[in-house]
Amino acid sequence: MMNIHFTNPDIARRFSYLEIDESVIEDAKYGWLIIRNELNAILEKFLHKMDVLGFADQIADAHELKLKLYRHWANLFSCSFSNDYIEQVRRSGIAHREVGLEPAHLTIGYAFIIDEMIKVLEKKITDDPARRVRTIRAINKLGALDAGIALSSYNAVLLD
Ligand code: HEM
Repeated sequence: MMNIHFTNPDIARRFSYLEIDESVIEDAKYGWLIIRNELNAILEKFLHKMDVLGFADQIADAHELKLKLYRHWANLFSCSFSNDYIEQVRRSGIAHREVGLEPAHLTIGYAFIIDEMIKVLEKKITDDPARRVRTIRAINKLGALDAGIALSSYNAVLLD
């Protein structure tokens, strides 16, 4: 049984569908302890990728965006899943719609960042293969949760 109390039934359903339980959350928190040391480097790569894909002109301030991105992931992996967290992801989904970014691009961005996180976990968790796999699976689930909330907000179907 989960200890987290969801006021939003839609979010509770997403946890159930993604099979995110206490042990997944524990694994994700462990993963974050490793990822957080590499997140700046991952975000640098991501900004470079955006540049290569031709999105540089849409970015008002790359330094500011990197800070916002860092806070975004730190907020997810704090695993509070609070209304503040959900609201922040909703805002980011809406922000992408406002800059005219397609949902497909957002999905590609999530895949890129999660893939980089997986590479870090693959490299850093060397002593315990079972834990390495568990951690990667947990990061993947939380990434899908976050992406789903952002995309639903983009489509304005996530109800208050
Ligand atoms: C190729 C994929 C993506 C592109 C091209 C893109 C592009 C952008 C652009 C142009 C902005 C506005 C920047 C500005 O105003 O200076 C933005 C904001 C933002 N993006 Fe993305 N983005 C992508 C994927 C993602 C992903 C996967 C995340 C998930 C963490 C994310 C999180 C954010 C956040 C948190 C903001 C700030 C929103 C705010 O101002 O509150 N983006 N993005």
